[in-house]
This record gives sequence, C-alpha cells and structure tokens, in this order.
Amino acid sequence: MIDEDMEEMLKIWRRDLERNDDVVPFCNLMLLYLRNHYFSGKLTTDEYLFELRKLYYEYRSESYDFNSVFPSVLVPLEMLITYESMDRDRLLSDKEKRQEIEDIYRWILRYVFHAQNKEAFSLLLEYFSEIMYHFIEIEGGMSFSDMGLSCMAALHPPTYIHSRMVGELSKALCSFLIDNDPKALTGVLGTEDEKEVVSRRKEMIDYCYKGALYHDFGKIPMIDTIFVYGRKLLDPEFFLLKHHPIVGANLLSRYASTSSFSDIAMGHHLFYDGSKGYPGGFDISASPDKPLIDIVTIADCLDAATDTVGRSYSSGKRTIDILREIKEEKGTRYSPDVAAILDIPEVSAEIDRILTEERSRNYSDAFDFIKGFLNEG
Ligand SMILES: [Fe+2]
Ligand SMILES: [Fe+2]
Repeated sequence: MIDEDMEEMLKIWRRDLERNDDVVPFCNLMLLYLRNHYFSGKLTTDEYLFELRKLYYEYRSESYDFNSVFPSVLVPLEMLITYESMDRDRLLSDKEKRQEIEDIYRWILRYVFHAQNKEAFSLLLEYFSEIMYHFIEIEGGMSFSDMGLSCMAALHPPTYIHSRMVGELSKALCSFLIDNDPKALTGVLGTEDEKEVVSRRKEMIDYCYKGALYHDFGKIPMIDTIFVYGRKLLDPEFFLLKHHPIVGANLLSRYASTSSFSDIAMGHHLFYDGSKGYPGGFDISASPDKPLIDIVTIADCLDAATDTVGRSYSSGKRTIDILREIKEEKGTRYSPDVAAILDIPEVSAEIDRILTEERSRNYSDAFDFIKGFLNEG
C-alpha cells in the first residue's frame, strides 16, 4: 500500500537511519503516514486496521526501550481506538479480533512492567491516560479492574499497596458495622432494612472491598504527578492531583466491572457532612453508597496517616493517635456511625493489626506480584 510519496520519504529517512530513528522512530513515521491516509479517506477502517496490524506484528519487540514503545504500545493503542469506533456487536462477535484485543493488553502490560529505561517509561506514561480511556472490556477477557490494578502495581507500587490496605481496612470496618449497627448500611445495594443488610452480609462486604480497592484509580493517569518524592507537591501539581476523584469516577463508570463503584471514587475526599473536601459539586448525601463512602474515607485516612514507607507527605502517626483524631472529627469530617465502632476494643485491635502485620504482608505480596509478572514476561 506504500505509495510513491512514501517511498521517497523512506529513502531519505533510511539514508541516516540511526539518527533519523532517534528523531522520528520508523514506526512513528509509518503511523503518521497511515493515520493521514485514513483520515483523508484514502483508507477504509478495515484497510487501516490491516496496515496497523502488519506494523504491530512485524515490529513489536521485547527490547522495552524508547523506540520500541511506538510499535509495541502506540500502534496497538491506535488499533484499540479504531476498534472503538466500530460497531461493538460486530467487534465482539469476531473471535479473532477479541483475541487480538486480549493479546494487545497482555503486551501493553508486559511493557508497563518491563520498561525500566527512563525515556521509555516517560513515553509510556505520556500515553497512559489514552490506554486507560480506550480500554475495551470483553466479557470473559481481561477486566478493566484487573488492568487498572496491574498497571498500578507496575507503575506506582505504593499506590497499589495503599489501595490493597484501604480494601482490607474497609472490609473489616464494613463487617464490624454489619455486626454491630446494620441499620447504618441500610439502602446500600438496594437493601430495605437492617435484616436484609445482615442476610446479604457477604455480598455487602465484597462490594465495599472492591469499591475501596478502586478508590484511587483516578491516580493512574496522573502517575507522573504522584511520583514526586522527597519534596512537597507544588501548587499546580496538587491542583492536578485533586482531580483524581473525578478522573477515577469517570474511568470506573465506563466499564461493566467497575461502573457501580464510581460514587465511592468520587466521594472519598469529601467530608461526611459535605461541608469540605474535594471535588465540589458532588452531593455526597444523595449517593446510595454514602455509608460505604464513609467507610472508605476513614480507611483511606487510617492507611495514609500511618504509612511511613509509601507516602511522600506523611511522617507516620500511631494508630491510637489517628483513631483519636477520627473520633474528634466525627459528625463533620467522619461518619459518627463508623467512628462509634472504633470504640469497640476488638475493632481497634483489628485495625491496628491490619496497619502493622497486614501492611508488611501487603508489601511482600505486592513484591511477589510484580516479580511474578516480570518472570512470566
Ligand atoms: Fe484518594
Ligand atoms: Fe487513597
């Protein structure tokens, strides 16, 4: 399909191959050329996909360096974006295309885990929001939740470990709340009374756990901002970061595996009474998941305040001190229902156990997860 104009361009490009590949890598040149032909109507969607596929399979490589990001990540990303524009039923009924999409995700994940070179990693991060926003979730294939968690583990392990910690703390708080004050959870998952909350205990805890696990998904496309270590965030960086609840809610709402958890992501930095926090404009009290948002907010704060390893802006408080602070701010910043169960000795002991023993276990589990992926690759 390469026409005469392109032949001329390639001839010039090949004259000083190495230098030119540094300026505009070959695959990027081809991508620009093909895109131009597609957008100007010279190629149909099927022809465009055919050419992209050829480029992808021929040039993707396991070198994980800057130039290989173009054929191995950007070309398949372009394929995904083009697939998205096609009729979804037609796409999903095509077994070959479904497998191809799965293969693309496995390959992108390999890159995310292996790109250790700083330039390759920066280029990857630059396109990361696109990868997240153009994910195609197929039943039986890789879910958006799995993709998100894996990317988090690879790109920013502290946020991944934090998410797991908030998941475990929320799970514990939710089960203690069902046992001691089920009325507080009425309405969640459509429950009509406390009896129903108790009878659907397992489902409720699982739902709360997942919501907590995904609460910071909005940080994935802004990994380079949260990567700052050793200094406080600058105002513009903090401004960006403050959007992570909205970004997270938008991302989660796009996919079947995560859509029901968008309110939890949206509300987890708002005060219990809605008087402060961010983002503005979200009526936390109107959400059916309000009791779970209250749980995740407290779990989030418990982990963030006590962690001394993964966070750049925390010196690490003792469990007893942060539990006291939560009680002091109940009714305004924190839910009085959740704060009340923290008074039960069994509950505070379990929270302390999660923040110490479980945290160490989470760190080593995360290490094993990343190592397992690297070995698999
Ligand atoms: Fe957050
Ligand atoms: Fe968080």
